[in-house]
Parts: sequence; C-alpha cells; structure tokens
Amino acid sequence: MRSAVLLLSALLSLGHGDVGDFSPCLSFFYRARPPTGMTGTPICQRYKNQYHFATLYSRERRTPWFSGYVFSPAQGKRPRGEWKYEPQLANSKADGNMVLFPIPPAKVDQNVVESQAVQNDYTNSTYTRGHLNPSQHHNDTVVRRATFTLTNVVPQQPASNDGPWANLETHVSKILKEYCLGKAYIVTGVIPYEKDRWLKDEGRVAIPEYMWSAYCCQNYSQDLPKSLNDIFPTFGAIGRNDPNSTQEIVPVDPHKKKEERGYDVKAMPLSILEGHLKKRYRMSISVFDQQCSRA
Ligand SMILES: *[C@@H]1O[C@H](CO)[C@@H](O)[C@H](O)[C@H]1NC(C)=O
Ligand SMILES: *[C@@H]1O[C@H](CO)[C@@H](O)[C@H](O)[C@H]1NC(C)=O
Ligand SMILES: *[C@@H]1O[C@H](CO)[C@@H](O)[C@H](O)[C@H]1NC(C)=O
Ligand SMILES: *[C@@H]1O[C@H](CO)[C@@H](O)[C@H](O)[C@H]1NC(C)=O
Repeated sequence: MRSAVLLLSALLSLGHGDVGDFSPCLSFFYRARPPTGMTGTPICQRYKNQYHFATLYSRERRTPWFSGYVFSPAQGKRPRGEWKYEPQLANSKADGNMVLFPIPPAKVDQNVVESQAVQNDYTNSTYTRGHLNPSQHHNDTVVRRATFTLTNVVPQQPASNDGPWANLETHVSKILKEYCLGKAYIVTGVIPYEKDRWLKDEGRVAIPEYMWSAYCCQNYSQDLPKSLNDIFPTFGAIGRNDPNSTQEIVPVDPHKKKEERGYDVKAMPLSILEGHLKKRYRMSISVFDQQCSRA
C-alpha cells in the first residue's frame, strides 16, 4: 500500500512540473486569479521543496513579465544573495526546485544558458539585477533566499534599484505593515520598450523601460489617516528605468538630487496603471480580479 502511494506520487510529480502551469501556486494571487493579458511561461517558484511565489517568464526576453506574491513584513537582516536558475526551463523533466549557479570555473550547462538569463549576462553590464519580488517583503529566511533567482530579476539601473524603487518597496512595506490587517497580494512587473533593448546589445536579456507594482489588500484598518484614504484596497506605481524616456507615463522631477534624477516613481490608482499597461502591451491587462473589488 505504502509503496503504491509512493509510486503514484512519483508518477504524478513526473507528469506535473512547476513550469508551464500556475495551478500549484495560485495561492499567491488574489482570489487565485493570475493577472490576465500577458503571455509567457508560468513558473511556480519552488525552493527547498516549497512554493514561495509565482512568475510569468518570457523565454524570448529571458526575463520575467511579472512576479506575484503574498507580502509578509520582513524581520532581520538581508539574506546572502546566492543566485539561482530554473532547471525546468532547460529541461521539462528536471526537478522543480530552483538550483544554485555553479561556482566558477565550473560552467553552467549550455541548455540553461540558452533557456534563460545567467550570471554572465549581467557581468560587465551597467545594469544591476533588480528583483521584482524583493527579499525585503518576506519575513521568512527561506522565502527571502528564494527571491534570488534570475527568473525573478530584470536589468535595472543602479540609480533606480538603490534609489526611488527601493524607497517604493520600503514605503509599501510600511503602509501594509501598519494598515493592512489581512493578506496583501502584490504583483510587480515590467513595461518593455516600444522597440526592445538588450543587455550589452547581445539580444539575450531584454531591458525594461519601466517597472510597475501594485498591491491588493481587502482587509484594512478602518482608521486610516485621511491622506491614505484612496490607497486601499488597491494602489500601484510605475518607476522609470531610463532617464531618457519621454515623460507621459512618469514625469521627471528636475529638483531631485542628481543621482536619482530621471528615475522617478509615480504612485497611481490601479485603473490608471492598467491603462498604461494596456497602451504599451496593446492588450487589456487585468492585474487583480475585478480590480481588487470586494464582491
Ligand atoms: C511570517 O508571516 C506569516 C504570514 O504573515 C506568518 O504566518 C508567520 O508566522 C511569520 N513568520 C515569522 C517567523 O514571523
Ligand atoms: C568582463 O570583463 C573582463 C575584463 O574586460 C573580461 O575579462 C571578462 O571576460 C568579461 N566577462 C564577461 C562575462 O563578459
Ligand atoms: C480582518 O482582520 C482582522 C485582524 O486580523 C480580523 O479580526 C478580521 O476578522 C478580518 N476581517 C475579515 C473580513 O477578514
Ligand atoms: C541617455 O542619453 C544620453 C545622451 O544620448 C546617453 O549618453 C546615455 O547613455 C543615455 N542613458 C541611458 C540610460 O540610456
């Protein structure tokens, strides 16, 4: 009996990978509904045999479209960033857990190199590895380590990653910690250039022109300060990743200190955010089911 159960579960796990299907990790999305409108390869992000968040990955761009996760207030220090990759993108029969990149001089398998971004893509580039799902939005060490997979990362300008975008992550964390009483679902993604640009012009890893993020928290404090009235149950933001971009989506504040100028982040209601996504993706995009409404 026991061996029959083991055999059955082995068969099921063989036939049922974590790449290509969000069904094992729908709990990371509001009402178990992933955003609609973007097409890519779903990845249920598994590390140490547990699911921690979900990512829609673009194989062509070797970067994610978005990552979705449940926020939990961070405690303690930032974990060591040991970068990992997704073996199932290279081999659908591979184990569902993310894998540490080999330590040089050991080389990454060529099938992995072809299927996704690897450490060398970022080496000698002027871009940093920008988390979509940031480690600081999680209280659990294993989850925080799990965010260090290149499938959760896009090329982000250091001035954004260490400046206004980091401030947004901290700000959202403070707001949710203080006023969100239940679960907060967050989705963070990218807006591509009209005409793709690539890391080191290599045509491998696409650079986003903007990053966006939105949360949905249904159960929030009834004594919100007036200034925060309109940021529940849902709110979003778009951040510049290129100081040379035009200013229709996010205007540049010329008074910002020089290091951060041109990397502004603009907060906006979800409907406005979805409007910007629709324009660039040329497709209706729904981030949260019924715009995070209650009914
Ligand atoms: C982390 O957050 C989750 C969800 O809010 C909670 O259930 C868990 O107890 C927390 N763990 C720690 C170590 O604080
Ligand atoms: C980075 O630059 C150094 C020095 O020019 C070079 O030796 C190395 O091969 C480069 N590495 C990658 C991955 O491009
Ligand atoms: C909202 O959260 C509070 C505090 O955790 C809890 O007491 C209450 O039952 C929750 N309400 C709903 C509708 O989930
Ligand atoms: C912005 O444009 C200037 C002038 O053309 C150029 O030197 C710079 O590299 C550009 N910056 C980015 C991030 O593309």
